[in-house]
Amino acid sequence: MARHLITSALPYINGIKHLGNMVGSMLPADVYSRYLRQRGHDVLYICATDEHGTPAELAAKEQGLPVDEFCAQAHDAQKAVYDGFELAFDYFGRSSSAENRDITQHFARRLNENGFIEERAIRQVYSPADGRFLPDRYVEGTCPHCGYDKARGDQCENCTRVLDPTDLINPRSAISGSTDLEVRETKHLFLLQSKLQHEVEEWVSRHEADWPQLASSIARKWLNEGLHDRAITRDLDWGVPVPADTWPELAAEGKVFYVWFDAPIEYIGATKEWADQDPENRDWKSWWYDVDTTVRYTEFMAKDNVPFHTVMFPATELGVREPWKKVDYVKAFNWLTYYGGKFSTSQKRGVFTDQALEILPADYWRYFLIANAPESDDSSFTWEHFTATVNKDLADTLGNFVNRVLSFSKKRFGEEVPAGAAAGEAEAKLGEEIAGLLAEYETQMEALQFRKAAAALRALWSAGNSYLEEKAPWLEIKTDPEGAALTLRTAMNLIHLYSVVSEPFIPASSKAMRTAFALQDDTAAWVTRDEAKSLDSVPAGTPFTVPPVLFAKLTDEDLETYKERFGGAPE
Ligand code: 2FM
Ligand code: ZN
Repeated sequence: MARHLITSALPYINGIKHLGNMVGSMLPADVYSRYLRQRGHDVLYICATDEHGTPAELAAKEQGLPVDEFCAQAHDAQKAVYDGFELAFDYFGRSSSAENRDITQHFARRLNENGFIEERAIRQVYSPADGRFLPDRYVEGTCPHCGYDKARGDQCENCTRVLDPTDLINPRSAISGSTDLEVRETKHLFLLQSKLQHEVEEWVSRHEADWPQLASSIARKWLNEGLHDRAITRDLDWGVPVPADTWPELAAEGKVFYVWFDAPIEYIGATKEWADQDPENRDWKSWWYDVDTTVRYTEFMAKDNVPFHTVMFPATELGVREPWKKVDYVKAFNWLTYYGGKFSTSQKRGVFTDQALEILPADYWRYFLIANAPESDDSSFTWEHFTATVNKDLADTLGNFVNRVLSFSKKRFGEEVPAGAAAGEAEAKLGEEIAGLLAEYETQMEALQFRKAAAALRALWSAGNSYLEEKAPWLEIKTDPEGAALTLRTAMNLIHLYSVVSEPFIPASSKAMRTAFALQDDTAAWVTRDEAKSLDSVPAGTPFTVPPVLFAKLTDEDLETYKERFGGAPE
């Protein structure tokens, strides 16, 4: 048994996320966590809302709410959707917590003591029309690198480069749209990343061989461009305040830390929030402090977050000069597109996670998204692909198998698993095949290859269908009822096996399959190789019920309705 610390990139508080956001961070982290828990590991899956910075302030302004109220409401709204998706976080925190404030301030003090923070006077975009400085997303304009005309002051969404508001071509205020902008001088704290370049490079080179290529190539690109000293404070009303004991003047001016400084620290902060809820039994430091190899730490994120997690946050952790846990494995994702175009929260294009759940239960989405996760490349969401996948894999291959087997057995042999003949050659062959596919599934899950894991799961479901077609118990029953009973008992054992191994992908349907059988032990503890081969964990005589249809087949009419509501290809 190992200890696994798992985090997924913290969703910004500014609004309900779209499916692209879900598939690139929280959902795969949940699938992986569920799998590891089933295998008996000690897992701590932590996430939180990312509540500071300009996204929060701008969204609160749009809704006419004070930022703290907006954040409290928006946190609950996001959490409700994640509950709907059955994301089994051990804790879903808030980066505006007191825990995160304390740890962030501690990090800043230590970095300062170690000579990695410097106060500098800088020139910043100021808007006379708005009467304020315009940090980060408060400025929009054209990206100097790729020409994208909706680039934000902190990062270009299109080419992923990190920007400074003064880099933008044709800048305008995101508050008023004013283009009458000037540059004024103000003091800020700088993190001297240039002094940490060498250490970060050394740290990356010790770890990158284990990371997926997407993560290591982005880290390398960033390092090759050279680490620049970066301002880690902002002129905003909302954020972790600069500690007055260390920087009285800046604190008095109301400076707060930059959102990207405190957000990754919230992985630690949220773990402390979790522990503070039950301090007798939970030890947050045992996951983060001085733990080395006793904890394996895996992070999930989309590719635009990779620079911050492979370079900037490790630089911070290294500069603190305390033994904080650093990431072991960075699982990075490309983009999920909507008909080849961008899903965009700010431009409200694509399918949002709350809308998805209005249409269909979580398992439909969970399966489709993970089976088509943008792992090695971007992947495109289309309603045609979605409905075809649901119908083929979930409704026909899995759902129909379950219903057909249980209904037929009930009709012919009553409400208990029939005994029938002893297992023969076909069952031995099936057992071998299932054990092999299970091994493949485990290998892919452990390698965090989600599409391949989904393919192996699908193959497990298909193997059951082939067995059933081959044995054809609906014909067998006419000449060999004992043989038919054996076929059905074996198929029911497959259903039970599916209920266990499908759990990370489709937890609700898995539970429905598992609880169809009145077994003493109805936990989803993993299947051993021997159990897979012998297919007899559900003994003859076990009472069962026929669950309602697991997956509804989506019709052409459904497809048209979805396309009408959400649109097809973007203009
Ligand atoms: O890009 C984003 O959505 C950020 N809110 C991710 C933050 S991840 C972390 F470091 F906190
Ligand atoms: Zn760009």
